[in-house]
Amino acid sequence: MSNENKNIMICDHPLIKHKITMLRNKETGTNEFRSIVEEIAMLIGYEALRDLDLEYVDVQTPIETASCPVIAGKKQAIVPILRAGLGMVGGLLKLMPTAKVGHIGLYRDEETFEPQEYYCKLPSSIDQRKIFVVDPMLATGGSAIAAIDFIKKYGGKDITFLCVIAAPVGLEKLAEAHPDVKIYVGNLDRGLNEKAYIVPGLGDAGDRIFGTK
Ligand code: PRP
Ligand code: URA
Repeated sequence: MSNENKNIMICDHPLIKHKITMLRNKETGTNEFRSIVEEIAMLIGYEALRDLDLEYVDVQTPIETASCPVIAGKKQAIVPILRAGLGMVGGLLKLMPTAKVGHIGLYRDEETFEPQEYYCKLPSSIDQRKIFVVDPMLATGGSAIAAIDFIKKYGGKDITFLCVIAAPVGLEKLAEAHPDVKIYVGNLDRGLNEKAYIVPGLGDAGDRIFGTK
């Protein structure tokens, strides 16, 4: 993990880098793409969950009773940004099986690249939950910023954003718009092209996960 801004964590784990290379390959088909996104989400999630709170419970081992740590509470929420964020949910649920899952539907207008909302359903007591917003791609930053705006409007406070690939401009905009949000990035790519696609990137993450085009 590295970066100067303490809220931005760029993953440096070789497994994450290797798997992202597989995603970039245009020959990687839908089925494989989907499972690799899930694996990467789990690996990034493992880093992002380092600061989960622990509490102590008494456990009777075969030898004695010991006070042992367990994850405190069950108040996590995973919020994918539809559609592509759905691809990351399974990986995080493997780490937090009791987490609730909310959904935010946004798509980028193809001409303005501005995010348009079409759906929002969040778990109850969102203000008390640790919230993990997931989307494989952080390009201009518009979608992530808008999704987090919504979550805050509904009371969300403790928010972490996870993505597989980010463009520097989107990462900077997100960190500026939401300085309280922790951001985990699998890889920081070079930039954006004229259609606001990440370069070198992996193409349209939603289309590659769901086999559409
Ligand atoms: C993609 C991606 C992000 C967004 C990133 O979704 O999954 O949500 O673009 O771009 P931004 O940082 O410039 O906002 P898209 O709008 O293509 O919708 P989809 O997931 O339904 O394909
Ligand atoms: N959304 C994607 O799916 N890919 C990009 O490169 C940019 C936005």
